[in-house]
Amino acid sequence: MKAVVHEGQAGINGLSYREMEEPKVGETEVKVKLKAAGLNRRDIMVLTRHKEDQPPLIVGSDGAGIIEEVGSGVSNFNVGDEVIINPSLGWKEKSAVPPKGFEIVGLPDHGTFAEKIVLPVDNVEKKPAHLSWEEASVLSLAAITAYRVLFTRGNVTADDTVMIPGIGSGVATFLLLFAKKVGARVIVTSRSKEKQKKALELGADLAIDTYSDWNKELKDEKVSLLIESIGRATFNKSINIIERGGTIVTFGATTEDEVNIDMRHFFYGQYNLLGSTMGSREEMHEMLAFIEKHEIKPIVDKTFLPEDFEEAFHYLKESQNFGKVTFSFTS
Ligand SMILES: NC(=O)c1ccc[n+]([C@@H]2O[C@H](COP(=O)([O-])OP(=O)(O)OC[C@H]3O[C@@H](n4cnc5c(N)ncnc54)[C@H](OP(=O)(O)O)[C@@H]3O)[C@@H](O)[C@H]2O)c1
Repeated sequence: MKAVVHEGQAGINGLSYREMEEPKVGETEVKVKLKAAGLNRRDIMVLTRHKEDQPPLIVGSDGAGIIEEVGSGVSNFNVGDEVIINPSLGWKEKSAVPPKGFEIVGLPDHGTFAEKIVLPVDNVEKKPAHLSWEEASVLSLAAITAYRVLFTRGNVTADDTVMIPGIGSGVATFLLLFAKKVGARVIVTSRSKEKQKKALELGADLAIDTYSDWNKELKDEKVSLLIESIGRATFNKSINIIERGGTIVTFGATTEDEVNIDMRHFFYGQYNLLGSTMGSREEMHEMLAFIEKHEIKPIVDKTFLPEDFEEAFHYLKESQNFGKVTFSFTS
């Protein structure tokens, strides 16, 4: 089978689209023939985490397709079922942190940018009927992250003013769609005027430039819940825009991990800082119920063919996307 594979050298230059051996199905596993496979910023980071001396790795965490084979111990899914892949391996119940042994599909084991993948049956879910293959393929990683950030960690309500810096991000577009369905006021930022405009069309109440003076732009308005994933470039601006006693939930650091903060300002302000990462199977089920109830559709910005992997990875790395990017395996 053909796959987007990383080997030999760090970064995008270590990628190729080549033949790999088709995986075999174990007792409690299923084989999925992929229709489409969504990209995430994680896929770019994997290209440096997967070392040059390690065996070739099929990249990718997200995907949707049709079950082609089931293991002898599988009774809840059948050949022909349409499914999406849940990339959270080994995290069933909602808990403060994932259990020991938790991993994400696409490192250390093979991922979704392939014609076929074998997974534990617990890591597939019925494809929401209102979504196309492309839409279904970009849902899991970003939407489960957004769901846990906003609901489990952020306890969002209709009374919140939620701020989302970097609205171009795949996760951020889900945060916007989810928070608006709850009835919260939503303020977003982007470096791009075009993305600010698109966010307003999607329901954002206010869109401003990421590099502007946020306090000036928001006048006296304060934010109760801020969802931070940009990291160093915006973290201190985020602390300075939330109301006293307000909450920041952080789940990413696109622009560097290390940040200096003014501790005195932070504790005088009685702020809350929460971390979050991915989500459990229980949260996956809650998220799927939420998007089905509200008929939410992921924002798919662009679809690439897997052989155009280089173009797709650069497109995401340079943040040209508004929302999600995916590979189509249907041709
Ligand atoms: N912990 C988890 O479970 C988890 C899960 C998913 C993602 N993440 C992390 O969350 C982040 C977003 O992931 P994603 O896949 O949604 O990413 P993405 O689609 O690549 O989006 C990243 C966004 O960050 C903003 N950005 C990038 N460089 C910037 C800069 N120099 N200054 C200001 N803003 C900048 C951009 O917003 P604009 O273009 O609008 O300005 C861009 O759209 C990443 O750091 C990722 O690793 C973590």
